[in-house]
Amino acid sequence: MPRLIVDCDPGHDDAIALILAHRHAEVVGITSVSGNAPLEATTANALLVTALLDVDTQVHAGAVKPLVGEPLHAAVVHGVTGLGEVERVEHSRVPASDDAVGFLLDAAAPDITVVAIGPLTNLALAIERDADWVSRIAGISIMGGSAGVGNATRVAEFNIFADPEAAAVVFRSGVRLTMCGLNLTHQLQTDDGVTERLRRVDRPTARFAAQIFDDLHGRMVTLLGRRSAALHDPCAVLAVTHPHLLTIEPRAVDVELAGSLTRGMTVVDERISRRRDDANAEVAYRIDAPAAMEVVLDSLM
Ligand code: RIB
Ligand code: CA
Repeated sequence: MPRLIVDCDPGHDDAIALILAHRHAEVVGITSVSGNAPLEATTANALLVTALLDVDTQVHAGAVKPLVGEPLHAAVVHGVTGLGEVERVEHSRVPASDDAVGFLLDAAAPDITVVAIGPLTNLALAIERDADWVSRIAGISIMGGSAGVGNATRVAEFNIFADPEAAAVVFRSGVRLTMCGLNLTHQLQTDDGVTERLRRVDRPTARFAAQIFDDLHGRMVTLLGRRSAALHDPCAVLAVTHPHLLTIEPRAVDVELAGSLTRGMTVVDERISRRRDDANAEVAYRIDAPAAMEVVLDSLM
């Protein structure tokens, strides 16, 4: 069974990814970061999921803002709470520490993969504190970037755009890196049919997930005019737990920091002649969406 640390900014899809990770891996710890919502909210939401799952996974709070500039949030998608109007189970859990970076460094081991599904601030700070960290873990699987369309801007994906400097540190670190970008995650879409399947199951995680999707689909109507949503963050978990469901290719990828139109873009070198020589990342291009959705739904029921 894979051993994971999940670095996250819950976030509707982060919450689903955390449940999926606990069903198919040993989650040795969770680190939270400012992203979809402020750090206090993302940390509270990570604790909420551990309470819902009744697991003893520790949550370590991390960065309150990006390496450069002010925090960027996504309230239009996730609400000010980070989980919209989703009902919150009562619990008395608190973070194990406010030192996510220290936890990432201390927990490093050759069989540990870090699944990073929010802005990469905590990981960049870990690398800046100890560059050898990347050689002491198995690798990093991120939901972030894109080998195509953006969402935060025409060309930049939210997790990268929220802290481009941190993303550049990670992409330039030499770490074994798998990138699940929007070009991939847009292939895995939920809709009201998924919600209805979950509503037929009388279990806490199924009820919670049904609320997550219903709340998210309602926001997507406003944003996209349809009741469906890409299941972004679970893809980065599946890349580790179910790699056979994804088609992945080596690519040279770097992060644009200066472009007035392109800041936060993951610039993927698609030139055939350069694909192997300069590759610093494994980029995901295809996912077996029906099979992946069944794995995700099975983990929620
Ligand atoms: O662009 C999608 C990413 O941004 C996902 O991780 C989602 O949770 C938001 O953080
Ligand atoms: Ca996220």
